[in-house]
Amino acid sequence: MTQREVEFGVVGWKCAVCGATVDIAEPLVFRCPNATRADPYHSLRIIQHDAPLRRFSDDPNPFLAYRPYFAWDTFAQTQGLGAADREALVRTLDARVAEVDGKGFVVTPFERADALSDALGFTVDGGIWIKDETHQVTGSHKARHLFSTLLHLLTTERIGRAPWGGAANRPPLAIASCGNAALAAATLAAAAQWPIQVFVPTSADPAVIARLSELEATITTCPRRASDPPGDPCMVRFREAVGHGAIPFSVQGPENAWCLDGARSIGWEMAELHPDHLFAQVGGGALARCALGGLAQSGRLPKLHAVQTESCAPLARAWHRVLGGVGGIESAGIHWAEYMTPWETPGRSAADGILDDQTYDWLGVANGMAASHGAPVVAKESEILRANELARSLTDIDASHTGTAGLAGLLAIRDVISNHERVALIFSGIRRTG
Ligand SMILES: Cc1ncc(COP(=O)(O)O)c(C=O)c1O
Ligand SMILES: [Zn+2]
Repeated sequence: MTQREVEFGVVGWKCAVCGATVDIAEPLVFRCPNATRADPYHSLRIIQHDAPLRRFSDDPNPFLAYRPYFAWDTFAQTQGLGAADREALVRTLDARVAEVDGKGFVVTPFERADALSDALGFTVDGGIWIKDETHQVTGSHKARHLFSTLLHLLTTERIGRAPWGGAANRPPLAIASCGNAALAAATLAAAAQWPIQVFVPTSADPAVIARLSELEATITTCPRRASDPPGDPCMVRFREAVGHGAIPFSVQGPENAWCLDGARSIGWEMAELHPDHLFAQVGGGALARCALGGLAQSGRLPKLHAVQTESCAPLARAWHRVLGGVGGIESAGIHWAEYMTPWETPGRSAADGILDDQTYDWLGVANGMAASHGAPVVAKESEILRANELARSLTDIDASHTGTAGLAGLLAIRDVISNHERVALIFSGIRRTG
């Protein structure tokens, strides 16, 4: 790494709740060091040098085009891996991913959706720009979160700092999901030939289960047990597996801080536009948090609107608790257990990928909304449906209802957005048919 590259790198981690810091040279930092079973309410964030954002190379793979900005890259550099070795690691793994999924990582398109912008009454200087993540590995942005995690694991193994030794003795990866995250995780695990356990709900889509089996994931169906605490039973089983030595390979920052690294690249790829607004669909919240984090590096923040559905909106509820509570956003973290409570009766929605009963990364998203003067949006089911219809008829992107839910948020508050403003959306999760 040249001196110039070092200036772009990551310094380390800082907990947004207790303020604990961890140097980037530490391997396998998944959670805040002060998080315990009794007090899991901690959330690390990445601390980066305050360097201007720019694309480093024209490589189509964002993990190479922006390589010096990634936390995994700085970690590897501190452990003595030269730039050529780090680049080779990305290329080799990406080639394996392409063998399994049919394509490798790409900087995805980010273009103005002219017909949609016209239909919604924007003027030519404003409009809607869509980041099309349906072109990403496994058809969604989820693989970005997990590729950084995997690069970190492989680096740790390679430099001899993995407690399990080498490839022959790997503990399994673990994830709780039955959708895009599970597909991304099992695909990357297959690419690295790393065993993986996937904890799925009883309602899991048979097509997803079939693909997970093809990828040789170990699948555990998780009915609620009488002794389970409130919340998603898949998360309970996932945490038990991690407690028994599995590696958290999930897309939730408080469980796997390394997932926060890779998905910032979505924000870096959108930064040149300097959008006025970002509407991001929120399930666990990692996507919104990372996309805004990446955009923040450009020095300008769009207003973040975190979009949930009326059938499950724990983030909007937590946000109102923060506003009505003592100490405002600054002291939200210490009230975590009181503010972010599991949604008691998650209903149904066509956007079924964002029905997480808790917004795991809620604090990062709430801090982002506070810093950018944004706010949560709760979309009606009719808006979720209309957004997907508009997306399918007025763009050539074939995303699921989950993946177009950000547009539903825009529809919900279109009257307070000026026709001259630039709105960024992230369409993700290719529509699966049949
Ligand atoms: C297509 C798509 N968009 C957005 C999200 C929301 O991401 P997050 O859970 O990080 O909030 C998901 C999550 O499953 C998803 O599959
Ligand atoms: Zn902490």
